[in-house]
Amino acid sequence: MTAPTPPTAELHLHIEGTIEAELLVRLADRHGLPLPSRDPAVLRERYEHFTDLQSFLDVHYANLAVLRTEEDFHELATGYLDHARRTGIRRAEVFFDPQTHVNHGVPIEAVIRGLSSAFEAAEETHGVSAAMILCFLRDLGPEAAEELLRAALPFREHFIGVGLDSTEVGYPPSLFTEVYAMAAAEGLHRVAHAGEEGGPDYVVEALDLLHVERVDHGIRALEDPALVARLREERIPLTVCPLSNVFLRAVDAIADHPLPLMLDEGLVVTVNSDDPAYFGGYVDANYTALGLDRDRLALLARNSFDACFVPEADRARWRAEVDAWV
Ligand code: ADE
Ligand code: ZN
Repeated sequence: MTAPTPPTAELHLHIEGTIEAELLVRLADRHGLPLPSRDPAVLRERYEHFTDLQSFLDVHYANLAVLRTEEDFHELATGYLDHARRTGIRRAEVFFDPQTHVNHGVPIEAVIRGLSSAFEAAEETHGVSAAMILCFLRDLGPEAAEELLRAALPFREHFIGVGLDSTEVGYPPSLFTEVYAMAAAEGLHRVAHAGEEGGPDYVVEALDLLHVERVDHGIRALEDPALVARLREERIPLTVCPLSNVFLRAVDAIADHPLPLMLDEGLVVTVNSDDPAYFGGYVDANYTALGLDRDRLALLARNSFDACFVPEADRARWRAEVDAWV
């Protein structure tokens, strides 16, 4: 019998969102920093009570003060790769948020070197192909995003693209048109969170103004039939995160999640974990929670490989693994 969930790519994962409560406590002890509790169970209990994206981000950003050194970032990435290996991930394209850490006084070089030293060795150490996507925190605004991109360009070989995350409503994609053009001129891939809490107009702006190649979340695109038709025709992948949507109350319950409907609409949907330390599990838990049959799980997994920023030969090799899994 093969594994209960298919081999897959993970295309929507914030590395900072993999900080398990045990690591949080270990790093806080290492650096002599305060936490609301030293008990991982008590820390985790707080995660059950998010009411929306912002209520999560407030807890999340406060926790990240424990990440101080290159070694801390390396340990964080290695912890994720241990999970990735166990959960059938063949390829991970991982978001990181340098602005959070730079604002805590950590040099950008420590962030990038700590993470990239783990991810660039991941094929050998964990049998996982991994790459990094530099994200702009949209609530810090477009000038800060441009400053970040300029600061990161000396490390250009360590990331493959740019993304846009953090507080969505009130910070539409249009604000970031110029920094995305700068990124495109550097040959970087482009993705953006849109349609998680923001409306379908955010998705349209991400496509038209930022020229994104994938949309992160995108569930509210369903509210606009013309947009759904466009996403289907242009085969724009949507990196959907079912458990995240339940924990952050974008949907009421997993049984109400629109992902099956999105598949019915012929959209290129993928399954991802977003911030697995907070939202009840890793990518395998997200696949399982949906309660879909193996054919549909395989379709989702094939979609995930089709949506990777890798040569076609790699996609074909991984798709064949999915065919063997069914
Ligand atoms: N940063 C971490 N997780 C996020 C999410 N789900 N949406 C926006 N920004 C995030
Ligand atoms: Zn996200």
